[in-house]
Amino acid sequence: MPVDLENTEPLAWDSPDLDEDTKAMLDNLQPNILQAHVRDHMSILFVRFGDADGGRRFLRSLVPLMKSARTHLEEVRGHRESKAPGTVYVGVGISKDGYRELGFDPKKFDDAQFTGGMKRSRDFLNDPPASEWEEHYQGEIHAVVLIGDATAEPVEATRAKVLELMGSTVRLLGEETGLGMRNPEGKGIEHFGYVDGRSQPLFLADQVAEERSVNWSPFFPLNHVLAADPLAPNPTRHFGSYLVFRKLEQNVRAFRQAEEELADALGLTGADRARAGAMLVGRFRNGTPLRLHGKPSSDDWPTQNDFNYAKDPGNKCPAFAHIRKMSPRQARDTGSEHFQGVMMPRRGQTYGTRTDNPWDDAPPETRPTGGVGLLFMAFNGALGQFLTIQDWANNPDFPQDKTGQDPLIGQGKRTMKVQYPETWDGGKLSPPQQQAPQTVTMKGGEFFFMPSLAYLKSL
Ligand code: HEM
Repeated sequence: MPVDLENTEPLAWDSPDLDEDTKAMLDNLQPNILQAHVRDHMSILFVRFGDADGGRRFLRSLVPLMKSARTHLEEVRGHRESKAPGTVYVGVGISKDGYRELGFDPKKFDDAQFTGGMKRSRDFLNDPPASEWEEHYQGEIHAVVLIGDATAEPVEATRAKVLELMGSTVRLLGEETGLGMRNPEGKGIEHFGYVDGRSQPLFLADQVAEERSVNWSPFFPLNHVLAADPLAPNPTRHFGSYLVFRKLEQNVRAFRQAEEELADALGLTGADRARAGAMLVGRFRNGTPLRLHGKPSSDDWPTQNDFNYAKDPGNKCPAFAHIRKMSPRQARDTGSEHFQGVMMPRRGQTYGTRTDNPWDDAPPETRPTGGVGLLFMAFNGALGQFLTIQDWANNPDFPQDKTGQDPLIGQGKRTMKVQYPETWDGGKLSPPQQQAPQTVTMKGGEFFFMPSLAYLKSL
């Protein structure tokens, strides 16, 4: 039975009744796509092939360092049941230039954004010109190698092996080092200090079963994340995923200043001052959704995700808040397919080190203005998913006219004024305020396809 990417039931990957095509899909899919791979330490290598033979040899030689999605899922289960340690994650993505250099026609990919490349989407995405990107992103990148693990040593050892395998023709263009950050509760945070990575689309039956989903179901069909690998020996069994990579620098000082200025402008005092930042993000720093602020949690996962905005026209969480812009969660309210179509699993990692505590209330002057940020990564069944939501972020008239840009990642001039609820759920809106300034800057990136292991072996 062909793999059903539109199946409206989550995938029971461990079922004894799994059909042969789906089994083959899991045995040939790279890990970290269907389920996040723990990776507090990451090394991300960007390479250029010197010629087709050298490029093919290099990619093929990486296969013994890699594992399949199924092996990863078994490792995750083993870790849960008996704390068995997992193995290092190695992932490989190839750009449209990389495929061409290897001797394949990128047009075999049925995705115009992929065959165009990220630089060509610049106008649509409102990105800075490529000449302003960091140097190693400015030219052609052929492939990316992702190496991740919970600890630094295996990453370092695997990175050394990968560099050795590059041989004389494959060139390292540049690299990024991802380093996870946690708050005192042990939750993963980003540099502005907020818990991140909580809300994800889920594809697997065991993951879905663990979530409370009365108000919001995190399940999405596989077509949100998988695409047939057109160059693999058997594209009905061999799948991959489109990877969006973007280096996003965060000016933490400017963001913290914006939080303080907003709290002052709205006259917020005491504990209510934290609502200023929460209205920009949509969650408080500890991950509590602004929409549910004030309600006792009955969720045993401390950072709740079972909510929607059906009864909140913006009195609790403004419609422009980052998480509300990115996922208006209307699908479950209205049945609208439109909103269901774009959810993509985010697998990014923070970069840069801090000498301050990103989660505390120390004054803005003590915060970094650059050199830290997010190595944004997301997997897509089609790149239109990413393009659509970055466009929502930039568009002040989404989801309604005069909503305002996404305070975190909206790109483009912020001329429109916006209103905030003066009190949480009070119903009265503030006088119009300037939007928070842009504090995230795109420093470079590319679109890659994460091919099936079968394709890599066939090279
Ligand atoms: C430096 C840049 C960014 C920062 C600091 C940031 C921060 C956050 C935080 C704190 C959350 C809440 C945690 C959660 O719900 O999982 C979140 C959620 C989210 N972010 Fe971002 N983010 C950034 C970039 C992006 C980009 C580039 C996109 C997509 C184009 C994106 C899409 C999302 C989505 C879809 C959610 C989940 C919304 C939901 O399901 O409720 N983020 N982000």
